[in-house]
Amino acid sequence: MTHLPMFDLRALEGHTAAAYSHFRQDRAWTILLLIYALIICTYVHGLKPAPRFLRHVGPRCHENCTKNGNCNGDTGKCDCSFGYEGPACESRSMPACHTSQKTRSPPQYGTWSLKNCNCFRQLAQIGCPPLGDRECLYQALWNVSLACFEVDGVPPEQQTSDVPRDGFSHPSLRWYWGQPLLGREAMNETSPPKQHLLPNGMYQLPLDACPKRCNERGICGGGSPSDMQGTCICMASYKGKSCETAAQEDCYLSCSGGSRAGLPSGTCIQGFCHCPPGRWGLACTRDEYYTSNVGWKPSYASLRIFVYDLPQNVVHMRTDDGSGQTQDAMYLAEQAFLSQLLADSASSSSSSVVTQNPWEANLFMVPTWSYWYTSNTVTPVRLFRHVIQYLRTNFPYWNELGGRNHVLWAVNDRGSCDWHHLESDLHHPILVTHFGQAARLPPLHVMLNTETLEALERRRQSIRKVQQMLTDFREFNHVDLYYENMPCYRPEKDVVVVPIAPGWVYPVIHTVYGKDHQQYNRSMSRPYTFFFSGGIRTEMMYSQGVRQAIAKMQQERSTWNRPDFLIRTAGFPRASMMQSKFCLAPSGWGWGIRLVEAMAAGCVPVIVQDGIYQYLWDVVPYDEFAVRVSRRSLHRLPQILDAITPEQLEALQAGLTRWHRAFLYGTVHPDGLAYNFTLQSLRRRLTNMWSAHYRRSLN
Ligand SMILES: *[C@@H]1O[C@H](CO)[C@@H](O)[C@H](O)[C@H]1NC(C)=O
Ligand SMILES: *[C@@H]1O[C@H](CO)[C@@H](O)[C@H](O)[C@H]1NC(C)=O
Ligand SMILES: *[C@@H]1O[C@H](CO)[C@@H](O)[C@H](O)[C@H]1NC(C)=O
Ligand SMILES: *[C@@H]1O[C@H](CO)[C@@H](O)[C@H](O)[C@H]1NC(C)=O
Ligand SMILES: *[C@@H]1O[C@H](CO)[C@@H](O)[C@H](O)[C@H]1NC(C)=O
Repeated sequence: MTHLPMFDLRALEGHTAAAYSHFRQDRAWTILLLIYALIICTYVHGLKPAPRFLRHVGPRCHENCTKNGNCNGDTGKCDCSFGYEGPACESRSMPACHTSQKTRSPPQYGTWSLKNCNCFRQLAQIGCPPLGDRECLYQALWNVSLACFEVDGVPPEQQTSDVPRDGFSHPSLRWYWGQPLLGREAMNETSPPKQHLLPNGMYQLPLDACPKRCNERGICGGGSPSDMQGTCICMASYKGKSCETAAQEDCYLSCSGGSRAGLPSGTCIQGFCHCPPGRWGLACTRDEYYTSNVGWKPSYASLRIFVYDLPQNVVHMRTDDGSGQTQDAMYLAEQAFLSQLLADSASSSSSSVVTQNPWEANLFMVPTWSYWYTSNTVTPVRLFRHVIQYLRTNFPYWNELGGRNHVLWAVNDRGSCDWHHLESDLHHPILVTHFGQAARLPPLHVMLNTETLEALERRRQSIRKVQQMLTDFREFNHVDLYYENMPCYRPEKDVVVVPIAPGWVYPVIHTVYGKDHQQYNRSMSRPYTFFFSGGIRTEMMYSQGVRQAIAKMQQERSTWNRPDFLIRTAGFPRASMMQSKFCLAPSGWGWGIRLVEAMAAGCVPVIVQDGIYQYLWDVVPYDEFAVRVSRRSLHRLPQILDAITPEQLEALQAGLTRWHRAFLYGTVHPDGLAYNFTLQSLRRRLTNMWSAHYRRSLN
């Protein structure tokens, strides 16, 4: 089909009627021809419908890929466990981080043990993406001086981190002090350390002092530096006296392949599934890949999510050497959600939410394990930038909409409050967080950029005015105000999801709501009208000053000092929520967990979080089960609660009964619906994306 000239509609504007009629006569024949050609084209296409997407099955990698890796159909490359690479995952990407050249062991790249200087340099090839300034994703690479060794007379790629039986002072080892990434020249030679104290209070011993050398999966620790018999400190995901057991459950769905029963399972290697041949992916759920004749043609009829399976060298379940790094279950919502999402990905089924065909997907889920990289305190932006760079250069889908159809999880305390400081690419993806702080004022740096100091001053005044309306709050300093006005969440594009409720709530749920979750248990006595127990800090940015104000008012105001108000600023059993009618749900450094606990305990949450959108606010009606109080009215809380009639309280408790399951994940409670509501919320963002977001330019 030849390319027919198109009309330039802009040329029509401004023409007089006469000129237009002249134009019409001139072009009439051309138009008829065009219509004729269109009819022919449509007819021919109608006879031979070209397939849009082609489905392929079966590997196209190196024939030995699946011995140790998975053949990834999307990329045609062999996916290896962390620390390995090559067409058959045959070579170690960081040989000096291993303790043996023979065993197929995981690399040790953390900060616990003393190791080979080359390990850090090799890790930097993976962990410091060459973007802007060196942004390293591993603690061991952060600008710290440390002691490390090299093996005399052996090329770097043949060295290991093994400490000989005789210990650190073995003559083959040469010791250095400094920052390994700056090169040996920037380091000073130093004498061997006499001992090395590990973070768990033990001393590092040569692996030979431990049973079976811990199978090269751990550090050997002793009670004293000269112990002859050590104890294995296993790396994450390994257990046992000699770290002989690998935790299969540290992988999504334990590599079972999801809902398709009867498939053989893969083997879990520290969060990486080594799948049976023919399958790949986070949980071995993948077995088809697609090509497209028409490019990206997303579905408009339903939610179709494509889940990326990124190489381990791009992102993985990052760990430290020692087992000391325990993850707080509260922060594992990404894992809880993805487990259910992956389980939902039946093969070739168009009814499932997950699709194996990225060309028809409308949302792209980017699993990152960000909490393993950042813990709860650090922003995941550095990691996201690294991952996004990979997506942009290795897949076509990011660039289609500048990342607007991509979903990333930031479950840390404050989510991603710094997005507005970043390059515009990072502004676009859908961020899934727990912290819905959406400051109404524009980001501070915008003001500074435009150099309108008056605007800045006006803004300070307006914040100050708000402050002056607060009773019994201590003064906020400029840091507190800065934090409170950070735009961490954009309601039209981001999703605020539920964090994982702590363990104590699960046994009580059926007592509170009955086995079928439909009967609010009215025989439970709730003698306390109001309950709060939790820490307070001096910084007013902590909980927006709410916890501090409540502690103060309880001490100083007679209206607050009453026996049915249970307020404790030291840890007090949270189970008292089950004996209370109303429970405070404040924020903390970022999001707070008390809302979720109160829901489970049948205690009506009293949310005091100015300007912060709550979990799943767009798909769950908070007015049916919660009370929201602004800081301006906080001092009147006793009167506010007393004014709620028994009938109104009963209605709120009925609301708790209706909605509490939305605050539980199915992975931790069989009747939880947090996954379902999260999908609903994502679906709304998709609708937003098809409308408002499209009006903006795409870069
Ligand atoms: C695959 O592995 C087998 C057995 O180790 C070996 O004989 C063969 O040469 C390998 N294939 C390739 C292409 O390297
Ligand atoms: C890292 O160290 C180098 C030199 O020691 C220094 O110039 C640089 O500012 C440091 N960077 C950070 C982020 O601390
Ligand atoms: C190496 O030694 C020199 C001289 O004592 C000192 O100035 C320098 O700071 C040392 N470098 C490191 C990385 O410790
Ligand atoms: C209701 O609460 C009471 C008191 O805690 C408890 O003994 C009873 O078992 C609960 N009822 C149900 C149906 O769980
Ligand atoms: C929630 O999602 C799960 C998993 O897809 C599904 O089995 C269940 O029926 C859903 N529940 C509701 C109430 O929609």
